[in-house]
Amino acid sequence: MDHGSVDQAPEILLSRFDIEQRVGGLAAEITRDYHGRTPHLVGILKGAWVFMADLIRHIDIDVTVDFLGITSYGSSPHSSGEVKITKDLDSSIEGREVLIVEDILDTGRTLKFLEEVLSVHQPRSLRVVTLLDKRSRRIVPVQADYVGFEIADVFVVGYGLDFDQKYRQLPDVHVLRPVGSR
Ligand code: IMP
Ligand code: MG
Repeated sequence: MDHGSVDQAPEILLSRFDIEQRVGGLAAEITRDYHGRTPHLVGILKGAWVFMADLIRHIDIDVTVDFLGITSYGSSPHSSGEVKITKDLDSSIEGREVLIVEDILDTGRTLKFLEEVLSVHQPRSLRVVTLLDKRSRRIVPVQADYVGFEIADVFVVGYGLDFDQKYRQLPDVHVLRPVGSR
């Protein structure tokens, strides 16, 4: 694997076992909260698809799924807040109980954008589940309804999360530090 400008042996922040256990817990909460209803899970591509694939397999009520593709401009680890839609939803969310599935909340700009874009289509309800939350980095005051793990201000990759489109396939969540920083 070409690590480019990054550390050769990134440290594990969350193991696949930690993640599996927490994802099961989130799914149990969602199953309980949406009892008798059929939530419509909207996974945000590309970062959230690994999380979403595991999450839905632990949810014990009917769900439907769709994906919204977005991209932030550039490959910088610090998001500019400018977001572009690369894949629109396939089906209408009007009147649906929409649950946005995100990989990570950082400044909150992306989620703010998503909430604005989706609420225009008048879902019955709009909630958010995120695997990771860097709460200390928040610039826009948004919050998720379900949070897997609150993490410190570090750049993480793996379990769907990338740096410059790489490392998404790692089964654990790793901290990526610039070369020479330790
Ligand atoms: P926000 O708009 O600043 O909240 O950023 C959210 C998006 O930035 C996420 O959906 C990720 O795509 C990306 N991002 C933020 N922090 C990280 C990280 O530590 N690793 C990988 N991607 C990140
Ligand atoms: Mg993302």
